[in-house]
Amino acid sequence: MSTSDTGVQAVSACEDVSVLDEAVDKSKFKSCSQLSFYRRQKRLLPGKSLYRALLDSFTLHNGIAKLQIIHEETKVPLLIEIYGIEGNILRLRINELSPLKPRYEVPDVLVTEPALHRLTVIQEEADVVVLGYDEGDHKVHITASPFQIDVLFKEDVVLRINSLGLLYFEHLQPPPKKSRDQSEEKSDVPAISSEDGEEDLGLWKEKFGSFVDYKASGPSSVGLDFSLHGYEHVYGLPERTEPLQLQSTSDSNAYRLYNLDVFGYELQSKMGLYGSVPLLLAHKPEQTIGIFWLNASETLVELSTKPVFIETTTDMTKKRVVPETDIRWISESGIMDAFLLMGPSPFDVFRQYTQLTGSQSLPPLFSLGYHQCRWNYEDEEDVKAVDDGFDEHDIPYDVIWLDIEHTEGKRYFTWDKEKFPSPKKMQESLQSKKRKLVIISDPHIKIDPEYPLYSQAKEGGYFVKDRQSKDFVGVCWPGSSCYLDFTSPEVRKWYSAQFTFSSYRGSTDILFVWNDMNEPSVFKGPELTMPKDNVHCGGWEHRDLHNLYGFYQQMASAEGLIQRSGGIERPFVLTRSFFAGSQRYGAVWTGDNNSEWGYLKISIPMLLTISIAGISFCGADVGGFIGNPDPELLVRWYQAGAYQPFFRGHATMDSKRREPWLFGADNTQIIREVIRERYALLPYWYLLFYRAHVSAEPVMRPLWVDFPQQLETFGIEDQYMVGNALLVHPVTDPEVISVDVLLPRSDEIWYNFRTFERFVGLSTLKVPVTLDSIPVFQRGGTVIPLKTIVGKSTEWMKGISYELRVALDSKRSATGELYTDDGHSFQYLHEDHFLYRRFTFHKNILSSSCADEKGRYSTECVIERILILGLRKQPASVTTIEPGRRHQKVTFAYNPRTSVLTVEKLSLGLGADWKMHVA
Ligand code: GLC
Repeated sequence: MSTSDTGVQAVSACEDVSVLDEAVDKSKFKSCSQLSFYRRQKRLLPGKSLYRALLDSFTLHNGIAKLQIIHEETKVPLLIEIYGIEGNILRLRINELSPLKPRYEVPDVLVTEPALHRLTVIQEEADVVVLGYDEGDHKVHITASPFQIDVLFKEDVVLRINSLGLLYFEHLQPPPKKSRDQSEEKSDVPAISSEDGEEDLGLWKEKFGSFVDYKASGPSSVGLDFSLHGYEHVYGLPERTEPLQLQSTSDSNAYRLYNLDVFGYELQSKMGLYGSVPLLLAHKPEQTIGIFWLNASETLVELSTKPVFIETTTDMTKKRVVPETDIRWISESGIMDAFLLMGPSPFDVFRQYTQLTGSQSLPPLFSLGYHQCRWNYEDEEDVKAVDDGFDEHDIPYDVIWLDIEHTEGKRYFTWDKEKFPSPKKMQESLQSKKRKLVIISDPHIKIDPEYPLYSQAKEGGYFVKDRQSKDFVGVCWPGSSCYLDFTSPEVRKWYSAQFTFSSYRGSTDILFVWNDMNEPSVFKGPELTMPKDNVHCGGWEHRDLHNLYGFYQQMASAEGLIQRSGGIERPFVLTRSFFAGSQRYGAVWTGDNNSEWGYLKISIPMLLTISIAGISFCGADVGGFIGNPDPELLVRWYQAGAYQPFFRGHATMDSKRREPWLFGADNTQIIREVIRERYALLPYWYLLFYRAHVSAEPVMRPLWVDFPQQLETFGIEDQYMVGNALLVHPVTDPEVISVDVLLPRSDEIWYNFRTFERFVGLSTLKVPVTLDSIPVFQRGGTVIPLKTIVGKSTEWMKGISYELRVALDSKRSATGELYTDDGHSFQYLHEDHFLYRRFTFHKNILSSSCADEKGRYSTECVIERILILGLRKQPASVTTIEPGRRHQKVTFAYNPRTSVLTVEKLSLGLGADWKMHVA
């Protein structure tokens, strides 16, 4: 069946909306001033709040404090609930006491109902209640009039809620009596004129271009302000193309969290991109805190930092200036549900957030290798040629990807019979080379009664409905399509089942999944997405849960892959759209970037922001998706990508071919070298993902996370840490001959990762670069595990021995870890089939010990080579001490110029408790 059967072909559909043009057509997207709920809330100016707490309604049951507040004019009561959650978290929920109908409360994002840490009443008076939690260090002051909540740590105010009086709650009201359409024109609320020519039609209807949004529940927005005392450095709120540190917003230029398909998105913009995580972090040297605003509707965040004056003496003669950052959250619908993550360290905040939303799933090892993608690898011959090309050029890679053209007319779960007549054979060939395949599966389903996926979903009622309860029809790659309602557990179950080998003909167990266009992208829809008045399972409007749509698709895909394997294998699913909690289901990437230097540069703050919002497995299209990178840009992008968590080259359909060997032998050599470096470092990447999985540590993180006291690191966004041991500064400008690298702290030692040259911290180093160099430094005091030989793919390297790179700190010590397991199954979890080791260098002895006694994975792999960096003098002897063996003097080499000791041809058991004495 051809794509023209439904009258719209993929390319004509995209031409229709200019998605193949390079520049963003901004007229397709709303500015903040075109959002009527935002404009309504903006009419409320900072000042005395009209809300008053009814303290006689205060109760404390089972550790949950409840009270009512009332608006002095509308008299509508709201219910406030305050929970203390174990691990230094406070939760504040605000809903109507008796809403006309239930308001949307985000399901499925929190991993469990958080365990409560009981609150206690410390003081209760006519106009103030004071609660205590967390062993008395934290207090919550509730002031009745005007209603305000202050959170204190050891008597100091950390944050104040509603101190600007911006608590705003549109309670649900019955539609005006007249027939709705008439009433909309004659709303008792005056129409608001907008600078952008948008016509506002009252509270129950809103127009954008030719799109009319009918609001089934009328106005239902919520908003609240938080003042963070002493904070001026704030981060988070992915996904956007702005600096790492959030900036003060001006009127009508708020950070927008609304998942949108923005092809070739603009740099330095606060507009919403493909994914949203409503998590904001604030940091100062003594404390890091976070606010997680659990709301999946369109959300805007305003921010302003100002100085405040504090009296430091009782007679008020001396004043101190401290910064304060005001944050205003505004959401279109739902309830207010805010989690205050009280730190105090950055890693505590990561743990607190992960405790709520889950940790990064442990990826199968192959997915940490290099991925080769293109829209499209044309046919089976093309796949074979590219696959062979990697071998011919001696470049390792793990996965080849197939984009939408591999299907029968963009019908997902099918194969184009001409181009891919024997998909199984193709996969067998990849499998014989220990490689994998990823195929795309988008959420739109082509309308075609002959297409089983469509007809089954139609019959099951599995599509999102329009406001008239008909299956919503939108346009995407296949032309007219319906959209699966992934918010429904039944639909997810059905979708997951599509991945079984019997349903998905031609699939094998080396096939994994890519969910794209799941904002969802609707070419002819408002802002290229789904109308907000569409209806999901349970009767919820799309507006209530828009930002969750992609999250649910990835959840269903990951579940499908797990089920396909009988619960044994770990899935790999890449998604473009994401929300809080998406880390549980796989990886994300930053969508359709351009092949330009600015996009390489911005990829760093973009990925850092995503990473600190819980999603460690993230990457940007290497080379840039749109356009043709020149060789220098491509080489630089490979170097950056090799040191970022998800490493995939991708290119759009009208770009020139750009497999890594097409740019001349010299460039091929440089790309080969950095991909091989990635593969040599796989044990370290795997360890970092394990630590993200079990300890919530972001794999890639801003410098301030590891150096929280170092003010000079707070704004750094052109370099970052990979784990705690590697500092990376990719080159992101053309034709440079040096880059300035900040090496933090005067008591730190840093080693150039390739030359082992030693540097003392707290300096900005001018590092000379040639095209083949990427500045990477190992921090003194760390031990990094590597593989000694690089193979064709991760699986080829399974039995390869390890190297330990021990970098000494100023006290001549170092510690590090190694994690390994079978690399693909859940046995590490269910059967404790893992090995977790710790290496310590102290007083000239390097020792290997068990980091987790539960682990019972055994491997024949050995540690074959050990490098000790920063050993100032030539040792007289090196002796290994192994259980059940005689002490053995081993040969070694010492380079006095580099101060590096190299011990080779070792055979130290990976799981054994051995020591190596450097005398
Ligand atoms: C979207 C994706 C891109 C993909 C293309 C075709 O633009 O972001 O990665 O190649 O769709 O499926």
